[in-house]
Amino acid sequence: MTGKIEDHYSGGGSLAARIAEDLRAKGLESSSLTPADFSALDEFHFRGRAATLELAAQMRLTAQSKALDIGSGLGGVSRTLAETAGCHVTGLDLTPELCAAAAEISTWLGLTDKTDFMQGDATELPFADNSFDAAITVHVAMNIPAKDRMYAEARRVLRPGSVFAVYDILQGGGGGMIFPAPWAAEPSISHLATPQEMETLLCQAGFKLLDSIESTAESLRWLEERTAGTGPPPPVPITTRLLFGEGFKQMVQNQLRTLRERRMLTWSFLCEA
Ligand SMILES: C[S@@+](CC[C@H](N)C(=O)[O-])C[C@H]1O[C@@H](n2cnc3c(N)ncnc32)[C@H](O)[C@@H]1O
Repeated sequence: MTGKIEDHYSGGGSLAARIAEDLRAKGLESSSLTPADFSALDEFHFRGRAATLELAAQMRLTAQSKALDIGSGLGGVSRTLAETAGCHVTGLDLTPELCAAAAEISTWLGLTDKTDFMQGDATELPFADNSFDAAITVHVAMNIPAKDRMYAEARRVLRPGSVFAVYDILQGGGGGMIFPAPWAAEPSISHLATPQEMETLLCQAGFKLLDSIESTAESLRWLEERTAGTGPPPPVPITTRLLFGEGFKQMVQNQLRTLRERRMLTWSFLCEA
């Protein structure tokens, strides 16, 4: 028995097998691909891999770092950090189906020694205090009402002085969300904070705020280019649409409108533990 969030993200099940099948159908061999090739599928957030690379550059990662990716999904963010910094990344996600597919994709890409994926809840991390040298969370908190517990847990497992990078979808002043959204088909699993609430939550969890950056205009441009087909084509023609099928079209239209009307914002916060 799974919960509503896991059901929302499970994509009808057998994800890894379906991705492998799609690749074969398009004449592609999974073992000949790179992490960047999967980015239209496994970097499930606005501005994809480019946004992850921007955050990674601020995380003070070295090849010796042990990093945590909270809400790792299909593992794209974890693999981008592991590949570019040479560090080890543990991805944790609530949805078992996504954890299994993330581990499988890392096997295809030869990144099993640099990444591992486990099922777990961001509000109850199964790690000892001071276990990690850096942490990241990308487009996850909008599913989590207890953000105070989520950030307190991130602070607890981070070594003092290390960086916590947060990139999320926030509530703007333009009105309520329009559903279905990619993170929630209906309102009961959608919990957006405002930028001010985020800053308060992060500081109350014990983080020092180093920087906060709004990227709503860039996110809108990125989505408009993708839907109009004027942006760069996906490296491999398999995208997050695979998770949601035909329903994805309506989600994208709703996202365009909520970004244009500033109902929805994208922001990053760089924090020090
Ligand atoms: C939009 S996806 C983003 C995945 C990934 N961070 C990325 O950017 O590609 C949101 C993810 O948050 C996960 N999630 C939601 N609530 C969670 C929780 N309480 N603990 C851990 N993961 C959670 C979902 O299972 C899903 O994989």
